[in-house]
Amino acid sequence: MNRRAILLFSCALVLPARAAGASGLPPIEVYRDPGCSCCEGWAAHLQEAGFAVTMNDDFERRARRLALGIADELASCHTAMVDDLVIEGHVPASDIVRLLANRPAGAYGLAVPEMPAGSPGMGPEGSGPPYVTLLLARDAAPSVFAQH
Ligand code: CU
Ligand code: CU
Repeated sequence: MNRRAILLFSCALVLPARAAGASGLPPIEVYRDPGCSCCEGWAAHLQEAGFAVTMNDDFERRARRLALGIADELASCHTAMVDDLVIEGHVPASDIVRLLANRPAGAYGLAVPEMPAGSPGMGPEGSGPPYVTLLLARDAAPSVFAQH
C-alpha cells in the first residue's frame, strides 16, 4: 500500500471511532499571534474533530508564514502544520481531513484568509456570509477547495 492508500484506509477505519477519542489523525501544531483568543476556538473545533492540537505563541509568525508559502493576502491569525501540510486561518476540520486523505498533485496546504464570521472559532457556524477554503499548490494560483 502506498502512503495515500494507507491514509485513506486509516481514515475510513477511524471515523466511527472519533467519539471514543481514537482518531488516528496526525497531530496539529498551531502558531498564533500571541494573545489571540479566536485561535483557541479553532483549536477546540479541531479537537472535537479528533485532532490532537498544540498551541504556540509566535512573535515571528509572519516570517514563519511567509517561509511556509502563505503570502500576506492569504494571512489570518494563526498558521498550523499537520503532517507536511500548512493550514492558515480558520479552516474547517472537515477540509483538513479531506486533504489529508486525498492530495491533489503539488498541494501543500489550505487557507481561509482573514477571519470570516461563522468559520470555526469565529462565532456560530453559518452565522456569517459564505466564505471559501483555498487550496495552495506549488506553481499554481490558490484555487477554491471548499465553499462554506
Ligand atoms: Cu486567533
Ligand atoms: Cu482568528
